[in-house]
Amino acid sequence: MIKMIRIIPQPEKIIEKKGVCQNEENISFIADGSVASEGYRAVISPDGVKIYASDERGFFYGKMTLEQLKIQSGGTLPCAEISDRPEYAYRGFMLDSARHMISVSEIKKMIDAAAMLKLNKFHWHLSDDQGFRIELDSFPELTEKGSVRKGDNFGSMCRSDKEYSGYYTKAEIREIIAYCREKFIDVIPEIDMPGHTSAILHVYPNLSCKKEPVEVKNRQGIYKDNLCMGNPETLGFIKTLLDELCELFDSEYFHIGGDEAPDEYRKTCPDCQKMIKENNLESTAALQCFFAEQVKDYLETKGRKAIVWNDILKGGTVDKSITVQRWMDAKNNAFKAANSGNKVIVSDFRPYYFDYPYGMYPLKNVYRHNPVRNKALTPEGVKNIIGVEAPLWTEFVDNPERLEYLCFPRWLAFAETAWSAPHNKNYAQFKSAALTLCDKMKKDGYTCAGKKDMDMPLHKRLSDVIKFFRAFLSK
Ligand code: ACM
Ligand code: ZN
Repeated sequence: MIKMIRIIPQPEKIIEKKGVCQNEENISFIADGSVASEGYRAVISPDGVKIYASDERGFFYGKMTLEQLKIQSGGTLPCAEISDRPEYAYRGFMLDSARHMISVSEIKKMIDAAAMLKLNKFHWHLSDDQGFRIELDSFPELTEKGSVRKGDNFGSMCRSDKEYSGYYTKAEIREIIAYCREKFIDVIPEIDMPGHTSAILHVYPNLSCKKEPVEVKNRQGIYKDNLCMGNPETLGFIKTLLDELCELFDSEYFHIGGDEAPDEYRKTCPDCQKMIKENNLESTAALQCFFAEQVKDYLETKGRKAIVWNDILKGGTVDKSITVQRWMDAKNNAFKAANSGNKVIVSDFRPYYFDYPYGMYPLKNVYRHNPVRNKALTPEGVKNIIGVEAPLWTEFVDNPERLEYLCFPRWLAFAETAWSAPHNKNYAQFKSAALTLCDKMKKDGYTCAGKKDMDMPLHKRLSDVIKFFRAFLSK
């Protein structure tokens, strides 16, 4: 009796066949326009494997399936016919290199895992209050000074008096993009604006509303100094930055942030007030939407699409061509935007923020989260949910072991929501396959959370969460 085929993410349809299939890979790739984009049909028989697909991505995912079949079946390929296609077109993961650098080799390791799980968007957070991490020709000082801070003061988890610095050279960024291209992963850079810009304002304080000195921060938080959106020089600076970054990054999307941007200083800033008046804007919050649309317009001239965090919608609606990323959205503004035509990516803070401990977001909760189950969404809105993304912020993550521990196996659960149809999901079957896959990943040098950590009993969850927040708040 053949064991039921179970891989991660689980394919759309599997017909298991009797017979012995070779484990040597005699694979033929056959173009078939009837197969869905990114999908594939794999026919595994004793005389070889045929993979049918309508695009390169489909062939690649067919190969990824074969590799995992071997892992899950102890090295052999079971005879079967598998038809598969993704649930969502956008299947993302975010890594924050601004708070703590992640080495090129570690990023590649994460990309290998992402590709195995059929994720296809790498959202790379490269600029924040705690550092600007890209080599630039247009603003060399921004790289040189914006990438340095006075140590780490992120609670008790990451604390050091030693100067912290680092950035990626253009060659390293190109190397990552090329690596991702081979694995059909698009690299989406994020330059967060107008908030989370202390590293930029440290170098160019005249671009802030107060025009006073700003430090590159060494502690987590939300800071009041923002880029001044009333100062025309700000848009000029952003355009020059985008000119260079759009040459470097080739993805369809460019993330322009927009989260956690306090509007307090805008209220008394003469430039912001003038801009609001001249453009008949309703509020200081609306100025942020107006600014994002100008940046979006500029990106459009370069054939790029803008993504923003949902926070921006506090200031009103934004042009339908802007994609909204939902993370913390009590008023469901992102889903309302989806109902009226904006494309939306779901990164719900609960439970897709994997920088928070397993006690807070256990594997089971990640697996069971349905990104489109929400009363605020209309059927039209559901169609505008292009996918999901799991962010990994690094205020409290300064080493690869911790990074991997937080992601594995939660990435596995997340990837199944991203790729597999809801009717094919089953937690018990998933968990069994996840344990096998984690064993293999551990052999390959990854750190995965142990069985006891991934789904803790309630009392352990509580102590895990308390421990985290104590460390978080420790001065
Ligand atoms: C966010 O977590 N501030 C988008
Ligand atoms: Zn201002």
